[in-house]
Amino acid sequence: MNILFATSEAFPLIKTGGLGDVSYSLPRALQEMGHQVALILPGYRSVKHKLGRPDRRYALADEFLRDDVLLSYYGHSALGLPLYLVESDSLYDRDGGPYESGPGEGWYDNGDRFAQYCRAVVCLLKGGAAEIPQRFDVVHCNDWQTGLIPAFLQRLALPVRSVFTIHNLAYQGLFDRGTFDYLKLPDEWWHLDSLEFYGNFSFLKAGIVYADWVTTVSPTYACEIMHEPLACGMGGLLQHHRHKVVGILNGVDYDAWNPATDPYIRFHYDQHSLQEKINNKLEIQRNTGLRLSKSTPLIGLVSRLVEQKGLDWIVSAMEATLGEKVQWVVLGAGTQQYERQLQALAQANSKVISVTIGYDESLAHGIEAGCDLFAMPSRYEPCGLNQIYSLRYGSLPIVRRTGGLADTVIDASEDALEQGSATGFCFEEPSARAFTETVRRAIALYRKQKTWRKLQQQAMDQRFDWQHSAQAYLELYEQE
Ligand code: ADP
Ligand code: GLC
Repeated sequence: MNILFATSEAFPLIKTGGLGDVSYSLPRALQEMGHQVALILPGYRSVKHKLGRPDRRYALADEFLRDDVLLSYYGHSALGLPLYLVESDSLYDRDGGPYESGPGEGWYDNGDRFAQYCRAVVCLLKGGAAEIPQRFDVVHCNDWQTGLIPAFLQRLALPVRSVFTIHNLAYQGLFDRGTFDYLKLPDEWWHLDSLEFYGNFSFLKAGIVYADWVTTVSPTYACEIMHEPLACGMGGLLQHHRHKVVGILNGVDYDAWNPATDPYIRFHYDQHSLQEKINNKLEIQRNTGLRLSKSTPLIGLVSRLVEQKGLDWIVSAMEATLGEKVQWVVLGAGTQQYERQLQALAQANSKVISVTIGYDESLAHGIEAGCDLFAMPSRYEPCGLNQIYSLRYGSLPIVRRTGGLADTVIDASEDALEQGSATGFCFEEPSARAFTETVRRAIALYRKQKTWRKLQQQAMDQRFDWQHSAQAYLELYEQE
C-alpha cells in the first residue's frame, strides 16, 4: 500500500509535543510492515537547515497555490523515510515556532500557511507534479493543520482514501469569515454541515466531516469527546459521525525510549538491575542542584506547561508538600504564568525543587531515568506518551484517570497490588486536593521497598508497541 503521512511536525526534524513522536514512529512501523510510506511536512526554515539540499524540486500546478510554493523531495531523510517538504519562502521561511511567533502568539497568517500546505498535499495526491511517479492509495492526516485535505479530496472526488487523526480536539484551527474568503474556499463550505462552526470556520471540523475515518489516539478519549466538556462544542458533530470514529492507542518507540540502551543516560538498567537507576537519580540531582539523596522520592515532570496538563495542581501539590520528604524536577515551557510560578518556587526551595524552562531532549531522558515518580495530572489527555515512557523507565506515573492515561496506567489499589497488576497511581477528581493526596499515597508506598520494586518491575514489563496500533490503522486504510 502507498501511504502519504501528512503532519505539521515530525521528530527529529521539528517537534513541539507528542504529535512529533507519533509522526516519526507510526510511519516507520508501517514501513517495517512492508508498505511504502512518505511524509509530507511544511518547509519550516529550521527543517530546511537540518536537511540541506533536496534530491529534487518540483513545481506544483494549481491555480490556488501561491507562486512561491514548490515541493522538495528527500529520498533519505533523518526520518528514515522519503520526505516531501512543501516550501514557500513567504509562508514558512522564518524564525520562530511552527505554529507560534512567540509564546502564546499564533502566527497571524496560520490560516493561510496551513491552507496552502493542504492544497499542496492535495495537488501532490492528484498528480499535480507530473514528474513524480509515486501514486498514493491513502493519506493519513493529523490534527487541524491538515483538516482541509479530506475536504479538498472529497470535492475533487479523488480516488485516495483519507484517515484523519485527532491528537487534541481542543485545538480546532478556528478562523473568521474574512479568512475564509481570503483563502478562496468554496462558498458551499460555509455551512453548518460543512466547515462553519458557530460563526467561524474550523479546519478540524473539515477533517471530521470529510475524512473516510476519524481516529483519536486512545479508546477512552474517543468516548470522552462524544460529550461535553471534552467535546469542545463538537459532541453533536462527532456523534453524528460516530460510525467512522475509532480510538487507536498510540504506541511508543522503544528504540529511542529504553533505559538499557538510551544514549542520553549515563547508567543503563533494566528490570534486573534497578540499583543502577539510583545512579541516574544522583546524576539528575547533581545536575539540577537538588540535594543529593538516594532515599528522598523524586517526582519528575516533562511537559508543555499549559492548563491541560494540570499545572495549577502541580504548583499546589509542590507548595503543600514543601515540608515533607520529597523532591521535584521539572522541565517544560509554555504559559508564562506557570513558568513564573514554578521558577519562583524553585528559587525559594532550590534543594528540593528544580525547574528548567525550555525544550531539552537530553534532560527529558535524564528525568525519565532518574526520577522515582512521574507526574501527569492532566485535566484531559488524548493519549499521553510520557506516562508510557515512565512505565518503561520504572518511574511510576501519577496520573488522572482520563483518556490515554486511563488506558495505560493501572492504579496501585489494594486489589491490583495483590493481583500483581498495578503499574502506577491514578486519581479521578479534577482537583489539587485529589492530586496531592495521590502524591502522598505514592510517597507512602515508596517507603515499602519490596512492594515498590515489584511495582517498578510490573511497570517495566508493560509494552505499548507500535506494531499493534499500526495494524489497526492499516485495517482502516483498507476498509471501504
Ligand atoms: P503532548 O503532545 O500533549 O505535549 P505527550 O505526552 O503526548 O504530550 O508528548 C509530549 C512529548 O514531548 C514527549 O515526547 C515529551 O518527552 C516531549 N516534551 C514535552 N516537553 C518537553 C520539553 N520541555 N523538553 C523535551 N521534551 C519535551
Ligand atoms: C497530543 C495530545 C497527547 C498525545 C499526542 C500524540 O499532543 O495532547 O495526549 O499523546 O497528541 O498523539
